Amino acid sequence: MYMEPNLLLTPGPTPIPPQVTRAMSDGMIGHRSSDFTALMENVQSNIKTLFGTDDSVAVLTSSGTSALEAAMVNLVQPDESIAVIVSGAFGDRFRNIAQTYPFDVHVFEVPWGEGADLKSFKKFLDDKENIRAVFSQACETSTAVVHPIHSLGKLVKDYNKDTLFIVDGVSAVGGMKFDMSGDAIDCLVTGSQKALMLPPGIAFVAMNHTARERASQNTLSRFYLDINRYFKSLEENSTPFTPAVSLIQGLAQVLELYKEEGVEQVYERHLKMRNMLRAGLKALDFELLVDETHASPTVTAFKSDEAELAHIKDALKKTHGITIAGGQKQLKGKILRIGHMGYMFPKDMLTVLSALEAITSDYRGKKYYGRALTAAQEAYYESI
Ligand SMILES: Cc1ncc(COP(=O)(O)O)c(C=O)c1O
Repeated sequence: MYMEPNLLLTPGPTPIPPQVTRAMSDGMIGHRSSDFTALMENVQSNIKTLFGTDDSVAVLTSSGTSALEAAMVNLVQPDESIAVIVSGAFGDRFRNIAQTYPFDVHVFEVPWGEGADLKSFKKFLDDKENIRAVFSQACETSTAVVHPIHSLGKLVKDYNKDTLFIVDGVSAVGGMKFDMSGDAIDCLVTGSQKALMLPPGIAFVAMNHTARERASQNTLSRFYLDINRYFKSLEENSTPFTPAVSLIQGLAQVLELYKEEGVEQVYERHLKMRNMLRAGLKALDFELLVDETHASPTVTAFKSDEAELAHIKDALKKTHGITIAGGQKQLKGKILRIGHMGYMFPKDMLTVLSALEAITSDYRGKKYYGRALTAAQEAYYESI
C-alpha cells in the first residue's frame, strides 16, 4: 500500500491542520441557536488581529471572488470613477467585475512580475479627476508579487482623503501583517482557503467606518452581496443567510492556532519560508520572477523553459507526491509557483527543494545534490 502522504504546496487551497479538520466535524449546530452566536462572538473577537482592525469582519458563504465583488458593489455608486491596479490574473478579476457594472473604470497596468511603481501611479491618479476608489491586490497570487500597500494607501489619501482604498488580501491576510488604519485601507477582503488554513467556501470583508457609511448610502442594486445585511446581523453575532457552519467551527480553531504560535511568529515563519525557497531556487540556477523588494511571503514564482517546467511539475507530483502550481494566463508555461502559506513549515521547503535537486540533476545531467538545501538552511539560520 502506498502510504506516503502527499504534500500540497499550491498557493491555495492549502493543507488543513488536523485540529481544524476535527473541529469541522464537531457536529452541526443550528445557525439561529445560542451555540452559533457564541461561536461567532468568539470568531469576531479573534479574527480582527489578522485584518489589523477593531471593526467587525463580515463572513460570506462563497469564494474569495464574492468578497472582491462585494467590495465593488457596495463601495462604488453607478457612474462613479474608480482606478484598478492590474498586475496579474487577480487584478484582471477586479477589472472584469468592475466592467460588469455601470462604473467609469480606469486601469493602471503594471507589468506582470513587478510591483506597482509609486511615481507612475501618482502621476496616473493626478491625471484623473474625482477617482472615488482605488482597488489593488496586496499579493497578486498569479505573479507572487506583494505591492507596497502602505505607500499606495498614503498616495491614495494624498490624492483625495475621501477616495477609498480597497485591498484584495486573498493570498495575504493571515500570512503577512495588516494594519488597516495605519495603511489607510478602508476595505480589506480575503477567502478561507489560503493562509487561513480552511477549505474553500467562506470569504471575509472588513470595512472601516467610512466604507460602511459609503456602503449604506449606495444606490446600486444588489441582494446577496449587500454588505449592510451582514454587518447588521453581526450586531447580534449572526448572519443574514445560512452560513457555512462547519467552516466557521474550523475557523474558531484556526484562530486558536494563531494564538498558540503567536501572530508575529506566524508572519516570521512565512518570511523564513520565502527566504529559504528563494535561496534554494537560485542555488539550482533558476531565475526568480520577482525581485527581493516585492517578493511575497506566501508564494514564490520561478522561471525556466516550458519543457523543463512541465517536466518538474510532473515529476514532483508523480515521483515525490508534491503538488505545486503553474503560471496563469500570459505566464502559463513560463513559470511555476510554490505556495508557502498557512499550514506549511520550513521543513516542507527543504522537502520540495531536495526533490527539485534530484529532478534538476537528472534532467540537466548535472549534479545539484546538496546545493539548494545548503542555501536554504543558511537562509533559515541567517533569518533567525
Ligand atoms: C489574490 C486573489 N484574489 C482573488 C482570488 C479569487 O478567489 P476565489 O478563487 O476563492 O474566488 C484569488 C484566488 O486564488 C486570489 O489569489
